[in-house]
Amino acid sequence: MTAPREFDEKTITEAVIGRLSDSGDPRFKRVMTSLITHLHDFIREVQLSESEWLAAIDFLTDVGKACTDKRQEFILLSDTLGASVLVITLNHPAAEGSVESTVLGPFYWQDAPDLPRGSNLAEGVKGEPTIYSGRVLGADGRPLENAVLDIWSGDGDGNYDMQLPEQTGMKARGKIRTDGEGRYWFRSIKPTFYPVPTDGPVGRMLRAMGRHPYRPGHIHMIVSAPGHLPVTTHLFVAGSPYLDTDAVFGMKESLLAQFERHPPGLGPHGERMDTAFYTVNYDFRLRPDPGAVTP
Ligand code: BEZ
Ligand code: FE
Repeated sequence: MTAPREFDEKTITEAVIGRLSDSGDPRFKRVMTSLITHLHDFIREVQLSESEWLAAIDFLTDVGKACTDKRQEFILLSDTLGASVLVITLNHPAAEGSVESTVLGPFYWQDAPDLPRGSNLAEGVKGEPTIYSGRVLGADGRPLENAVLDIWSGDGDGNYDMQLPEQTGMKARGKIRTDGEGRYWFRSIKPTFYPVPTDGPVGRMLRAMGRHPYRPGHIHMIVSAPGHLPVTTHLFVAGSPYLDTDAVFGMKESLLAQFERHPPGLGPHGERMDTAFYTVNYDFRLRPDPGAVTP
């Protein structure tokens, strides 16, 4: 019997999947089969009209046009639909006691400067001074020497350096390494809540959904150490607005950090603080990398 060459609203799905028969890559075949199945089921389920189909095409076209070398609107779309966090959660299951991952976001800048422990990352940056400290540990609780915290955050108004028109260089960024006892400390500011970019198609989508665009206050870091799996994560400011409704669904209870306020005076490492300041203490526990080559 020859294969049918005309399809109705049910047989179309099998027909499209059948055209994958010559694809050599089994994983690609599996992913595409599932994608086609869900896409067709979705179209049938909502009985998509032609004008809705065209609106979706226009929307995705606008998302593509909004992308530049400084802006990734497709990742923002993925973030705001919870897809990014879903992929991260599937690929980095929370292991007992080890630090959880969350979204990278669009404001990471590679090659932040390596700075000595105790440096002020936020020299000249608006915001309330904060001294961050803690340790980086292995799964067994042993301190990890020479672990790297690659850190970035917005300022006290919620703006990242790359969002400020007058700002050309890096601000509130830097890499800090742990000492022989796994300890790190550095100075920055207390981050505040801020909106994800809303001047593009994703902003239009959020408004149409009746959603706010805010993320709770957080500071980003990628924590890595030799022989261990790196973790892309945040520390969230305990008590910040929007912890319950993070626009990108990235909030994790285990990443909440207490910001303790102090009057002007000496910081925990002898720093002279002329204004009131905060301290935060947080230990990061990393999982061993099963693929790491041990000398
Ligand atoms: C951020 O935290 O920097 C961020 C994450 C996802 C989307 C927009 C911003
Ligand atoms: Fe952020």
